[in-house]
Amino acid sequence: MAATTTVLESEQFQKPILLGEGPNRVDGRSKVTGEARYAAEFSLNNVAYGVIIQSTIANGYITRIDTSSAAKSDGVLAVLTHDNAPKLKKADFRTSFIIGEDHLVLQDITIYYAGQHIGLVVADTLEHATYAASLVRVVYEEDKPILQTIQGLHTAYKPTNFHGFFEAQISRGNVVSALSSSSTVGSVIIERVYTTPIVHHQPMESISVIADCEGDNITVYESTSSVMRVRDALSNLFDTPPEKVHVISHYIGGSFGSKGPTWQHAVLAVMASRKLKRPVKVVLTRQQMFTSAGHRPETIQRITLGASRNGKIFVIKHNTITQTSFIGDFFEPASKTTAMLYACDNMEGTHEVVRMNISTPAQMRAPGETTGLFALESAMDELACELDIDPISIREINYADVNPENGLPWSSKYLKDCYRIGADLFGWLNRNPVPRSVRDGRFLVGMGAATATYPGIRSPASARVRILSDGSAVVYAASQDIGTGTYTVVSQVAADVLGLPIERVRSEIGDSSFPPAPPSGGSQTTASLAPTVKEASEVALSKVVDIARKDVTSPLYSKNERIVAVGEGRLAANQGGTPIVDSYQKILNRNNLPFVEAEAKTGPGQERKNYAFCSFGAEFAEVKVDPDLGELKVSRFFGVFDVGRVINAKTSRNQVIGAIIQGIGMALMEQTILDQTSGRVVTNNLADYLVPVNADIQEIDVRFIEKPDPYISPIGARGLGEIGITGAAAAIANAVYNATGKRIRELPITLDKLLLD
Ligand code: MOS
Repeated sequence: MAATTTVLESEQFQKPILLGEGPNRVDGRSKVTGEARYAAEFSLNNVAYGVIIQSTIANGYITRIDTSSAAKSDGVLAVLTHDNAPKLKKADFRTSFIIGEDHLVLQDITIYYAGQHIGLVVADTLEHATYAASLVRVVYEEDKPILQTIQGLHTAYKPTNFHGFFEAQISRGNVVSALSSSSTVGSVIIERVYTTPIVHHQPMESISVIADCEGDNITVYESTSSVMRVRDALSNLFDTPPEKVHVISHYIGGSFGSKGPTWQHAVLAVMASRKLKRPVKVVLTRQQMFTSAGHRPETIQRITLGASRNGKIFVIKHNTITQTSFIGDFFEPASKTTAMLYACDNMEGTHEVVRMNISTPAQMRAPGETTGLFALESAMDELACELDIDPISIREINYADVNPENGLPWSSKYLKDCYRIGADLFGWLNRNPVPRSVRDGRFLVGMGAATATYPGIRSPASARVRILSDGSAVVYAASQDIGTGTYTVVSQVAADVLGLPIERVRSEIGDSSFPPAPPSGGSQTTASLAPTVKEASEVALSKVVDIARKDVTSPLYSKNERIVAVGEGRLAANQGGTPIVDSYQKILNRNNLPFVEAEAKTGPGQERKNYAFCSFGAEFAEVKVDPDLGELKVSRFFGVFDVGRVINAKTSRNQVIGAIIQGIGMALMEQTILDQTSGRVVTNNLADYLVPVNADIQEIDVRFIEKPDPYISPIGARGLGEIGITGAAAAIANAVYNATGKRIRELPITLDKLLLD
């Protein structure tokens, strides 16, 4: 028997051991059988039900809340309002993502948006609480709300940075002189405005919590993308040490960014549970998901591109106007990606933010990239048309060999391969560049392409790996699986290092008492956690190896040869061609050890100063449009992505295809409409807020350039998920132009826009 795995050496990850289809989701069975427990499904004794009362006006003050009928209603245990709510500790959250909005719930009478939480009715049943909530009478003093970007434009502010992550006002070279000199050199300038509407995440599982408080201790079962952030937020607000806050989030039914911050429902549930000394459950209704869990704000983006006739761009301007609330600072950083995507010496990217009477926006599936690339990649297509250059070629002409923002080399970049392989497999070469020239029966057919990109984020993460005396292993980390496959990837990496079948490795995540790990946002979970799980597994393994070497009863006793994990929980030394074998189970049992464990913490380092880390992709859409009715289908969608190592091809495909479907929704359907008098969301249900269903989706396929990133970590995975949506809307809009000759610059591309001339 040969030693197939060379543990304790990083060369192990140089070979594609984990490629191929990848194992099935380890949590697949528990999800389809209903065994997986989501936040609202934990059955606690004596649980009470909280129903949130929300403001029906968008701007003003509460003059009176009459809760007397509600309080007397059947089964009611408490009615919380600003009149009787406990005081929260004021903390400055504006610069962080820890909480969604910097306004403490039930502490004052000011109303900033329609749907703001102004009370909580708690009763013995959900029905009793729901009925009692309908009895609460609120009297307001109402002011005229700001409900459109244009209304508040005169008060717009220019943020210097985006939550401390990157600059919000970007410039390099000299945009003004580049533009003024351009007329003399026979070049082309295009200037276009693109808009994207307010959209909402709408994961299947709406945001929910059960708070169970005892004395100072706070336990919450919360649907969150970050158990650590919820812990920190509640610790702050209730002035309780973090050790006394326990956040559990085992299964999460999708997030897309909506569950990234801590929202106010959790604060209300904790208040009520403390008061009543019993568990309190609060589940946002689908309607409340349109006001209380973030959204992607509207953007108005002006793009200016100057290029010479050969397609080389010499100036790019990207000026974004977007929105935030009066009680937060999150805005859509749509201009940021334009700074890094194409080589260009003269660049300007700006953001202006208008405060409006809406709930605070939040990160939604690739914030900045998704909206920004719709504009930039549409403009690139317009430029290509103007210059009569192939849209893929113009992107290659302006290819950024280093990061144009700072001159750093890329850690690895295979975007040219994405373009070429994608064009080849999609059949791009058959495309007719002349709009309205291809038909399939009565339908006009068009093809469009766009670049996709997403940063290669990695954060510090820790994990504990325990090898048990039954020959299995457990990994503990305060990470979470928002539906992406974290359980599976964590088990895979540990199983790989430990030489165990994946069924023998259990992942324990979604619990703030485990070693801290980053939020499941920014497509960073695998990139951050996998290297840590690898290291912790290696250390745990080396501890068992040391025990065996010192164990006189082990065949491996005092062996100087390298001892490696060889599969099925066995360890072996290769002694002149003869394998000497022992096993975890035998070693631990002989030494009376129930388990051997190791903890590791890894994170980004010096490599971040030397390289720029980014994932890339090329996305291709084919659309079929009914020329008489404007009806539109994305008949084919194809993407090729360079994301570093792909650890699990199945979950990766699933992630990226899901993101593409969300991109189809963004391109064709999704928009949140506010009532322009009341500020309430008109489309606050899934009948009026359209998302793609199976019937809307035709053929989608993706490929990965399976080249590990040599610098990001010893695993080489940059992470993925969000990248799938980033170029999707532009690819579709460009295909619509190619099919119909109509350039739609205002999302979504609804059929009325295709009918109007
Ligand atoms: Mo992504 S919405 O930045 O988690």
